[in-house]
Amino acid sequence: MLSASRTFLRSTAAPTLRAQRRHATSVAAFNGQKNAKGNYIVSMIEGDGIGIEISKAVKEIYAAAKVPIEWEDCDVTPSLINGRTTIPEPAVKSINKNLVALKGPLATPVGKGHQSMNLTLRRTFNLFANVRPCKSVVGYKTPYDDVNTILIRENTEGEYSGIEHTVVPGVVQSIKLITREASERVLKYAFEHARSINKDRVLVVHKASIMKKSDGLFVDTAKEVAKLYPDIKVEFELIDNTCLKMVTDPAPYEDVVMVMPNLYGDILSDLSSGLIGGLGLTPSANMGDHVSIFEAVHGSAPDIAGKGLANPTALLLSSVMMLRHMGLDSYGSKIEKAVFDTIASGTANRTRDLKGSASTSHFAQEVIKRLA
Ligand SMILES: NC(=O)c1ccc[n+]([C@@H]2O[C@H](COP(=O)([O-])OP(=O)(O)OC[C@H]3O[C@@H](n4cnc5c(N)ncnc54)[C@H](O)[C@@H]3O)[C@@H](O)[C@H]2O)c1
Repeated sequence: MLSASRTFLRSTAAPTLRAQRRHATSVAAFNGQKNAKGNYIVSMIEGDGIGIEISKAVKEIYAAAKVPIEWEDCDVTPSLINGRTTIPEPAVKSINKNLVALKGPLATPVGKGHQSMNLTLRRTFNLFANVRPCKSVVGYKTPYDDVNTILIRENTEGEYSGIEHTVVPGVVQSIKLITREASERVLKYAFEHARSINKDRVLVVHKASIMKKSDGLFVDTAKEVAKLYPDIKVEFELIDNTCLKMVTDPAPYEDVVMVMPNLYGDILSDLSSGLIGGLGLTPSANMGDHVSIFEAVHGSAPDIAGKGLANPTALLLSSVMMLRHMGLDSYGSKIEKAVFDTIASGTANRTRDLKGSASTSHFAQEVIKRLA
């Protein structure tokens, strides 16, 4: 059985990583079974906006690469049941059956309307850890050539608990919920993940100087969890300091696995994306004990939706993380190499966000040509 933690190694680890010390872990391992045709079934949520275009590109590339999976499309149009934003039952059944899903971005109305379906999915399937690797892309020049960070974001609570109310008109309270249980779970995942990718430092990013109780609990829990991993050093840094240091020189962050409460992870991962060329390049994995959902870090990009301009790389690299999670490493590596070779081949084959002129479908066809 494959460990999910271990599976991210090959997509994110620099070749210079120390030692061959590998520790398999059963945290968030994939337990899916192939069907009679020898394929895994994967739930597919195409998503909103550019989700339609980039999912189509993924499906075309997977068909060309003959990946042994079958897609099961899921409709996650939200419905309100007893005042709660709810995922349609067929989608819940599909994901619970297949144990793995690839997801396009889902738009969330601002300041009104239904709760975020992204949050609803994370809560419904208890996807407690959001893993966000961010690595410089060879062939696409940015101010830094050596970004190689891995950030793990607590995915179920914190500032995203959705507990808000109006105290009196003009005064609103939003509750940041931090529990020892959820903190412990994501921190353990971070330590396990560090072990599995041969890193011996975990950096806990927080703001316990101000949020002494909530972030204080996260920090205290980290100190407790660290005792279970004597081979891994735990370090602490304030979120504002991390932002400053990372944009000044990201190289030192290659050696650590960062872990942090929800909002900090959301912001810091976008910051990291900016360092390597933008949101079109950064994948992520939402890990749970039972189910895992893989998705790009970016949103539905309404400004370019339907125009054939979207870069499918982030969703493709998320799908590569998914394939490694499922033990389909060779297919993952083949697709990953074809994607990077296409980006490196020049501006004619790159999408506009990477200063190129290619459409989404042109990029997909170029990736297909490079599938060895
Ligand atoms: N996980 C998710 O599903 C997710 C994540 C973030 C935002 N959202 C939702 O998406 C909607 C739009 O959010 P936003 O505009 O703040 O962020 P966004 O990520 O959709 O877009 C930010 C900018 O990045 C560009 N961009 C993003 N992905 C790109 C890609 N693949 N190729 C080329 N350019 C790309 C967009 O054109 C835009 O200029 C909102 O409703 C938001 O709630 C969803």
